[in-house]
Formats: sequence, structure tokens, C-alpha cells
Amino acid sequence: MDLPRPELALVPRPRRLSTRAGRFRLDDTTRLRVTPGAGPAAALLRTLLAPATGLPLRAAADGAFVLALDPALTGLGDEGYGLTVSPQGVLLRAARPAGLLRGVQTVRQLLPYEALSGRPVRGVPWELPAVEITDVPRYAWRGSMLDVARHFQPVSYLRRYVDLMALHKLNVFHLHLTDDQGWRMPVATYPRLTEVGGARAESMAGPAGSDRFDGVPHGGSYTRAELRDLVAYAAGRGVSVLPEIGLPGHVRAALAAHPELSTDPGRRLGVWTHWGVCENVLGTDDHVLDFFRTVLDEVMDVFPAPYVHIGGDECPTVEWERSAAARARAAREGLPGPRALHPWFIARMSEHLVGAGRRPVVWAENGVTLPLDCTVMSWREPGHAHAAARRGHEVVHADHRATYFDYPRGPGPGEPPGQPGGIVDLRAVYDVDLTPPVPEDASRVLGAQGQLWTEFVTTGAHVEYLTYPRLCALAERVWDGTSGWRDFTSRLAGHRARLDALDVPHADPPAPVPTLHAPSFTPPTLPHPREPCRKDSR
Ligand code: ACM
Repeated sequence: MDLPRPELALVPRPRRLSTRAGRFRLDDTTRLRVTPGAGPAAALLRTLLAPATGLPLRAAADGAFVLALDPALTGLGDEGYGLTVSPQGVLLRAARPAGLLRGVQTVRQLLPYEALSGRPVRGVPWELPAVEITDVPRYAWRGSMLDVARHFQPVSYLRRYVDLMALHKLNVFHLHLTDDQGWRMPVATYPRLTEVGGARAESMAGPAGSDRFDGVPHGGSYTRAELRDLVAYAAGRGVSVLPEIGLPGHVRAALAAHPELSTDPGRRLGVWTHWGVCENVLGTDDHVLDFFRTVLDEVMDVFPAPYVHIGGDECPTVEWERSAAARARAAREGLPGPRALHPWFIARMSEHLVGAGRRPVVWAENGVTLPLDCTVMSWREPGHAHAAARRGHEVVHADHRATYFDYPRGPGPGEPPGQPGGIVDLRAVYDVDLTPPVPEDASRVLGAQGQLWTEFVTTGAHVEYLTYPRLCALAERVWDGTSGWRDFTSRLAGHRARLDALDVPHADPPAPVPTLHAPSFTPPTLPHPREPCRKDSR
């Protein structure tokens, strides 16, 4: 089949692009001129193009393809770049290394789409159209969250996930590492967290409240070496990894490993096999705070990025209300009651991170006021982001109605169980609105990210089936996103050839049951009745 040539159908669209006459051909004789500091970008270009093209792209002082890091360049910020392609040569310039990495992805998209294939391709001329591009992102935080707690994914898959993010110039990989149903983060001081908390006996079949279970054990955890490798791999693609350790709720897996962390240390709990919001939360004694300070120290040791996510969402307070120790703690701290232990707990963990030079990220929750040091990730209502920005917080939009890729895109049979009324189609993602009502708060809006919660997602192929092309729309909006829906969808039509070359599914529902490249993928069984995956009222 003759597919359309998507060479100028770039996603996300560059800020400024003009075409010139002619083309530049890359072949075995093409040499890279790599200025000091541009080595990582040259290495990435070679790595990305090698599987399909086999091009050696050796370095030479007189190379026609120049990668230049020039800190004196102005107006490009940390991630902007300039790219000039003429029949005689290529000049990719940036003021900072990350800008060059973004430009490499543009070069990759300008080549014939076959260049993205993981298999050798013969007979395609590796030509770039002559262009002049100046490109700068609009938002600094362009993220994608993957829940590896509900269903574990090996690091080999996470590397592919990072590569797909980088193709779309996304830069924050939010790794949801712990939850009620699984603890994936290795903690040397407390090995039971992964030994016990990393495995559950079975999983609920169907949404929260179902009385059916699949009888299939599920488990997995990472080693420190694996996570360090992932961090380095992502850094080589200009992506930082944001670890999330959820607290003081969503901790049932930790409680299964360490009953002494709970409000009722004598009780024995298993790793949760249900979906929904679990009422078991952390106790509030000093040893619990110290335990999690140690956990966060080990997290910071593995993940160097400035931000560390500490959850904060969906924290029922019934156990604190029942617990004499928690009530006494609230009184000692001068709090109005046990419910206030939620922001109090987060404040203690935030202080610890800030003291170590990091920046805590916390999900926005109804009625919970956070310390101003916390970056607020708003998921229920955009209004939470607006209010937090007004108070002076940095904010990241993760609005469930626009960015939750576990929500169905429509009625297709391969779609997951939905939230009530919760359809997130491509247009809803594209329409995500990051503009605060008070213009001076705009500088506190860092950006936005997509989320994939994986209660019903077990394979990498299924992750991608739900993520694409919705993540393309989000990437478009946070990079520039000013060209309009029609322009975006016409470019996306061309971009799909690249997704095909990468074996990334990108169907728009209603779709037939997808036949995907990974044999392990089976479409989820639709539960009935349609009920929320979690018990909250999003
Ligand atoms: C969330 O969906 N509980 C952040």
C-alpha cells in the first residue's frame, strides 16, 4: 500500500517552520560535525537511526551534518533548537543539550517514516526536506504517567515507553511505583516492601465493588540497578523520571509488608486484591514518619530529578477517626481533628524532601491545603489547578476528563471499563485547557501530563493501544498547540505512518477488537454494569 509521506506532518508541530528548495541525503558517507557538548545528541541520532537505516554517521571535523551546542544562543531556553536543512548540509543548534535532543527527534520525523522502524529497511532514500525550523516549547512540564503498581511492567518495556515519549518531545516520565495493589520500588533498608508488597494473590475481575476475582497471582518489582539504568536511558533522551511513592493512603501493599506502619499494628493485611479506594492508611506515630523518610531517601538516591511525587490522593480518614493514637497525635499537633492529619502528614514528608533540596509533587484533593513548597498536580477539576496557582503553587494539569487514558475513547469493544460519563476522546485531550482565569498565574502553570492507570491494562501492547494517539494530542498541546484542531488532525494522519513503523497501535474507536503485534494482548472483558474503576466521585 502506498502510504502518504508524512515528512512535514510533524507532531508536535514546531513553532516556526518554513520549507526551502531541495533535499539533503544521508548515506554511508555522511559525517557528523559534533561540537563540544553535542556528543550525547549525536549518539542519540545514531542510536535511533541505526536499526532501520544502518547509517554509521561517523564523526568528522568537516562533516556536513553539524550538531552544535552554543550557550550564547538566546531565545531558545532549555529545550529549544534551530534546524536548518539545505541540499548541502544540516545545522542543528541549541543553547542547551536538551534542545539538541529535541531537534534530533525532529530530524527523525523529517526522514521517511521507515527510518523509525526497528528492522533494517532497504531501498528508501534517507532524505530530509530542506527546511528552516525554530522551535521552543510552550510548557516546561510535558508528561506521561504510567501506573506500574496495579500491573507491573518490566524495565525493558519502560525503555520503549520512554522512547515513544521522547519521539513526541515529552520530558517527564511519571512512574507510579506504589499503591494498594503492589509496591515496586526497591528499598534496601526495608526489603519486605518488595518481597511481600510486590505480589498479590489475585486481582478483582471487573470494576471496584465486583465480587469476582481472577485467581491469578500478580507481582513484580524493580532493582535499584534497573531503575538507575532507566533513569540514565531516559536522560539520554531528555526525559526525567518522576517517581511516585503514594502516601498516606494507597499504602495497603506497604501495610501488608509492615503491619507496624498501620493505625492497628496487630492486624495482618494482605496486598489488596480489590480495585477502588482502600480505607487502610498509614499510622501517624513518629516511627511511621521516620520509615517513610528513609524510603524517600532511597528514592532520592535512585532518582536524581528535582521533583518527587508523594501521592496524597484519595485518603479516607476513618481509621484515624477510630484510632486513639491518631486522635491524640492530631490534638498534640494542634489540629482541628483527625481529618487534618492528611495535610499534616504530607507537610512532614514535604519538609523532608525540601530539606534534601527536592520539590514535592502532590495530587490535589478536595479540601486539602498543601504547603506552598508542593507542586500541585490537579486531577479532579481544573478549578483545583487554578485555585492552587492563585495561592502561589506551581501546578501541573492532569485533569481526568482530558488526560486519563484509562477512560474509554468511545464505545469500542477494546475499550476499558469507563467512569460514569467518562469518555476521553482525542478531541477532549486536544481541548485540555491550561489557561488560568487570572493571567498573572500563567507562569505557575508548569504544563500537563497524560495518565494511564492500569487496573485493566496488563501488557505493553495494551498500554499503547490506550495511550496512542491520545498522547500525541497532549504532546501537541503542551509543546505549542496553537495551530488548531484541523491542522493537528491532518498532521496526525501523516504521523500515523510513523506509529505504524514503530508498531504502535493508534486506532480511533469505535474500533474492531484490535489485532496487535504483541501476541499477549487480549482485549479487556467489559464489566457490567459500567461502574467507576475507583470508588471516588471524580
Ligand atoms: C487519582 O486518580 N487518584 C489521582
